[in-house]
Amino acid sequence: MEQFDVGVVGTGYVGLATGASLAYVGHRVTCLDNDQERVASLREGKIPFYEPGLQELIGKSAGRLRFASSQRLTEVIRESDVLFVAVGTPQGGDGSADLSNVADVARAIGRSLGGSPPRELPLVVANKSTVPVGSAYYVSTLVGEGIDEVGGKGAEFRVASNPEFLREGNAVHDSLFPDRVVVGTDSREALDALRTLYSPIVEQSFPTQWDPRPKVAVPFVTTDLASAEMIKYASNAFLATKISFINEVANLCELVGADISEVAYGIGLDERIAPRFLSAGLGWGGSCFPKDVAALRATAREYEHETPLLDAAATVNERQRRRVIQKLQRELHSLKGRRVALLGLSFKPNTDDLRGAPSLAIASALTSLGARVVGYDPVAGKAAAKLAPDIQAVFDPYEALRGTHAAVVVTEWGEVRGLDPKKVASLMRDPKLIVDGRNALDAAASREAGLLYRGFGRGYDTG
Ligand SMILES: NC(=O)c1ccc[n+]([C@@H]2O[C@H](COP(=O)([O-])OP(=O)(O)OC[C@H]3O[C@@H](n4cnc5c(N)ncnc54)[C@H](O)[C@@H]3O)[C@@H](O)[C@H]2O)c1
Repeated sequence: MEQFDVGVVGTGYVGLATGASLAYVGHRVTCLDNDQERVASLREGKIPFYEPGLQELIGKSAGRLRFASSQRLTEVIRESDVLFVAVGTPQGGDGSADLSNVADVARAIGRSLGGSPPRELPLVVANKSTVPVGSAYYVSTLVGEGIDEVGGKGAEFRVASNPEFLREGNAVHDSLFPDRVVVGTDSREALDALRTLYSPIVEQSFPTQWDPRPKVAVPFVTTDLASAEMIKYASNAFLATKISFINEVANLCELVGADISEVAYGIGLDERIAPRFLSAGLGWGGSCFPKDVAALRATAREYEHETPLLDAAATVNERQRRRVIQKLQRELHSLKGRRVALLGLSFKPNTDDLRGAPSLAIASALTSLGARVVGYDPVAGKAAAKLAPDIQAVFDPYEALRGTHAAVVVTEWGEVRGLDPKKVASLMRDPKLIVDGRNALDAAASREAGLLYRGFGRGYDTG
């Protein structure tokens, strides 16, 4: 295996998983961040967020994986063949992606390159951050400006788009066993470098104890820059739309008396449809879907182009969150003074990420209607309490349920799925309403225990 020297700028979910997996398969990697505290804690072996298996992967890569402040960018660039950009691209005020972090990094790369001695081979700048179509050109321009700023001459670099598809909560698995690796570039050198860099992952030729499913080869998709950038947005937009689609069908199920879980199973067996992302409930959230759908719609607006399907996907999603409140109001009427538990606060299980978490929007809607909100989450409780002081965070699900009139299942953590309905009923106050925003609980067992169960799309009586 050809060993590369790799730099990764940004040590969030994507940067750390990328750095750790590339080091694990044999490359020498330095992960950089401008957050000094984060770098210091990584050096002490502490991961700044909850991501199952990542600590272990970093441990197994020790010796080939280092962490440094981005002040050391120049030094890292000097020794790197490939530099990944994995900084955040949050949603800007108008829905478009805020590229300021990417722009800062691009200029800094230029200055570092411009101030360095001539390189044997051009630096490959591979962008992993999710950025709108055309950003690779923008990055190239900014790197060039950075080089000019320091009067650098002949500093060579090539740009590639290498979008990331990992799922938080499964980042380690998805980095080592991706469904595909996508590289967009107009440079042969960049393509060759990234193909070789990824070969242990593409060929699955590294020793592993993690995945019982041996994959023969991972598709390595090579394309142009714009298409690579669009592949990322189109993937997330499709998945978000799939969820909004099943939610629309679920709402019809409530009217006609059908059960969405039966319907989803029946349609998901069709290979053209596939079973995943057909879970009805309170809709999608998180650090990616909302901002990426918004950014794609914003891109379309720049071209004065309409996106009726994406607009509808977003509208259906907003409506689903309102339906949670409506389901509570239908049974409790006024929510003033009512005590409501939110079960699960992170945007999905197995992560502590609260970006775009439906729990925050629901808590704020409930509070504005006069309800008292108590929240439980196995890992995100403290962070949620900081972000949303209206949520009284507790660390035991039964404690959260004590004395509540209603509970909303927001995140289908194992700890929430596994609640004992009888114990739940014994702790709650009438009408002991459960709004199951993820259709995660056993409806029949809940009713038998004396709970007033309301799911999403599970026939008339649960609507
Ligand atoms: N989180 C996911 O599941 C996921 C999946 C696929 C793609 N993405 C995309 O990948 C990118 C990164 O996402 P994330 O969730 O890892 O973000 P994150 O917010 O968890 O991490 C970003 C990191 O970049 C650092 N950073 C920001 N500006 C910097 C700068 N100028 N110099 C050095 N470091 C800087 C921050 O301190 C932070 O540690 C985003 O564009 C996101 O849309 C995320």
